[in-house]
Amino acid sequence: MLTRNVKINLKERSYDISIGVDIFHLIADIAPKKAFIITDDNVEPYAKTVQNIILGAGAEFCEILTFPHGEKAKSYNNLQKAHDWMLENNIHRNSVVFAVGGGVVGDLAGFAAATIMRGVEFVQVPTSLLSQVDSSVGGKTGINTKHGKNLVGAFYQPKAVIIDISSLKTLPKRELLAGYAEIVKYGLIDNLEFFDWLENNSDAVLSLDESAITHAIEVSCKAKAAIVEADEREQGRRALLNLGHTFGHALEAAAGYDGSLIHGEAVAIGTVMAFDLSAAMGLCSLKDAARVRVHFESVGLPVHAGNINATSGELISIMRRDKKALDNNMVFILVNAIGDAFISKEVKINMVCDVLSKSLAGCDSGRI
Ligand code: GLY
Repeated sequence: MLTRNVKINLKERSYDISIGVDIFHLIADIAPKKAFIITDDNVEPYAKTVQNIILGAGAEFCEILTFPHGEKAKSYNNLQKAHDWMLENNIHRNSVVFAVGGGVVGDLAGFAAATIMRGVEFVQVPTSLLSQVDSSVGGKTGINTKHGKNLVGAFYQPKAVIIDISSLKTLPKRELLAGYAEIVKYGLIDNLEFFDWLENNSDAVLSLDESAITHAIEVSCKAKAAIVEADEREQGRRALLNLGHTFGHALEAAAGYDGSLIHGEAVAIGTVMAFDLSAAMGLCSLKDAARVRVHFESVGLPVHAGNINATSGELISIMRRDKKALDNNMVFILVNAIGDAFISKEVKINMVCDVLSKSLAGCDSGRI
């Protein structure tokens, strides 16, 4: 199958996303003299493959730094470890950092690259579905703090993104589903036709049928590219990509980032809540809200917060601290319909509370 290319046009920060099967070898074309690979203990074999390719292309130095997998790795402590490791190995301005792994590795390595020597180039080699369709594209990098997720970071675009679909073969099913939730998001934001296609092709996508998974990743990357090109630093339209995330981030924080609720699962529940809230506000039909819930349920994603040990009040205080809140006003992505999302600062807190309470009780307000 041919490699697909999606271009992100950001003037001098433009880059290509290459999508294909067994395409790690493309890294040889962009191998620097000195490379620093950051990865996690789940996907180290892919990092070693990338290392061999870079050394095979003639690099003088190419070493790997491996962190434990999981959201907790996105810490100040690990950022410092990455910086120290680079400095001990005499990183210079022409060195390149390679992030080989999922969203956590990409965010941490990207931020380390953005902040070392006032910024060295970095390449995203995402190996999880979630990072292939979302976090590796668009330049968001950062770490978590005790105050919340991604609160310290930078917009820092990679030099290239290499998406080798073969790496999904070793991805646990739960992680695959979590990435699928972000794929569905693009249909829900502004592409009803894509959501229709996903309803009919989710089995093929999730069983990694090459043509179906490639199509799903390509459509997702094109959708993300269009939004990032229009609003790189999230002053407006890019916030649409946060559909389900205001609720989702609060759920993740309440669950304690201990692996009991992973990002894409929280996004699935949060997206159902966003549709339920929109339906309760009379913006979208109960039928559309039910259709979204049924689709997530049909593939095996969670659709309510029944397992989260928190009250709606606690979740609301976490949401107020989210960096998407403006002057303490929460920003929600709401929908008029599937494929018609918009940004709203006009949400009544009692309605949010109601949706949260129902979801925490294990039900949803949009059931018909
Ligand atoms: N994941 C949302 C964004 O990149 O803006």
